[in-house]
Amino acid sequence: MSDPAVDVVELLVTAHRYTEDRGLDPDDLPPRYRRVFWTESTEDESSPGTVQRPLHVTEADAKTATGVERPWEAVSDLLFTQREEFSGEISLTQSGMAVEWLLDRVDDDRLRSNPVLAKIADESDEAFEATYEEASDENRPIRADRVWIDALLDEYFDEEEDAEMLDLVTVRAPEEIEMTLKDLVLTDDQEGEIRKLMKAIEHREYLANIGLREIGKLLFVGPPGTGKTTAARALAHELGLPFVEVKLSMVTSQYLGETAKNVEKTFEVAKRLAPCILFIDEFDSVAKTRRSDEHAALKRAVNTLLKSIDDISLVRDEVLLISATNHPDQLDAAAWRRFDEIVNFPKPDREMRADILRVITRQMEIAEFDPDVVADRTEGLTGSDLRLVLREAVLEALTDDRMAITQEDIMDAVSDFEERDNLKNMDMIEGEGAEVPEVAGDGGGEHDHDGHDHSH
Ligand SMILES: Nc1ncnc2c1ncn2[C@@H]1O[C@H](COP(=O)(O)OP(=O)(O)O)[C@@H](O)[C@H]1O
Ligand SMILES: [Mg+2]
Repeated sequence: MSDPAVDVVELLVTAHRYTEDRGLDPDDLPPRYRRVFWTESTEDESSPGTVQRPLHVTEADAKTATGVERPWEAVSDLLFTQREEFSGEISLTQSGMAVEWLLDRVDDDRLRSNPVLAKIADESDEAFEATYEEASDENRPIRADRVWIDALLDEYFDEEEDAEMLDLVTVRAPEEIEMTLKDLVLTDDQEGEIRKLMKAIEHREYLANIGLREIGKLLFVGPPGTGKTTAARALAHELGLPFVEVKLSMVTSQYLGETAKNVEKTFEVAKRLAPCILFIDEFDSVAKTRRSDEHAALKRAVNTLLKSIDDISLVRDEVLLISATNHPDQLDAAAWRRFDEIVNFPKPDREMRADILRVITRQMEIAEFDPDVVADRTEGLTGSDLRLVLREAVLEALTDDRMAITQEDIMDAVSDFEERDNLKNMDMIEGEGAEVPEVAGDGGGEHDHDGHDHSH
């Protein structure tokens, strides 16, 4: 990415080849080019849009696609480029010469990031390791691009009430997910489940053929802050799938009369965006209402939800369903039965806490940092708590105008955290927690206050 001339010529060569070669489709274009040349479709019902031929590359397009500030200047010296003054279009006068010039200057990594270029290299005499197959496998499909997702949503939600529905559902493109599996410290059990799931998705046709259709409905169970939401999102990133996120408490509380319909809509959105991940957070919030609330609309909503879960299928609809709950005790048998894998998200043990601390602090400089000592002192804290502790340490240091922190800052922040934790605990006892004893242990606070001795 360093040489601007190579970057721009790569784009021109790719655009030229894409225009000429009908055997290539938008999935062969790197996402960074694709989003520039995307057009929403007007007539084709089956697709929200595409990358239409011929591809004309204007200077502005080239700048967006490559990040090169002055694209024409970067290539104007080359013998095989031209610019049309009026439209600002840059193109190749001699594509053969351009290809030769380019292949002399690219490496396998670059080929792997651009299937069109890899195909050109495959056909050339140059000896590269990277192949078109490899590049296409690695390239994210167009269905995972934000532009594709937006176009689909636009098409699907035109009326006002549908726009309201979109308030309940957040759709993320995999490219927008910041924390990946690498940023998460997982238990062996969690890692095993995730590996199993990835294999199952890869071989879903085989599984369907041999009659194994009960895959793709997961329930993540564990206290708040143990990485359930992050893991689900990271999975979307890893698999290159759009991530449709619903907070069930929103769906059930906001538009009471509409709840059943909203639940159905949520599943419809997921089916429209498929293949995708549908993530239902706070899954217990229906279970609760199911028990205590006699409201007919809510009952209908719960039944709709359970039925929707039954009806959706990874094999048929290409929707992977992940639900998460902080309160497994509030789920009844009818709800449990719907899931074919339960993944436990426990509070991290000492070793995991130390690993989480290492991950969180990867980009920080910390004098005398000893994650094991911090881990010893933070029994009962979750990954999310540890993040808060580190943030406090950094902010405290900033108030002293220090841009670096020390082990001592972290230990101080741990003490502060414990103190605040205790205050919150007292709050719980005198406040609303006291009125609803059944949720006092696990309802309002971020942490489990029972059974842990924070002092050492
Ligand atoms: N196992 C973990 N490894 C690394 N970071 C973690 C872990 N668990 C939690 N965190 C941190 O805590 C934050 C909140 O976690 P989150 O996924 O929202 O938890 P949950 O959904 O279980 O309440 C995450 O963004 C992450 O930074
Ligand atoms: Mg969460």
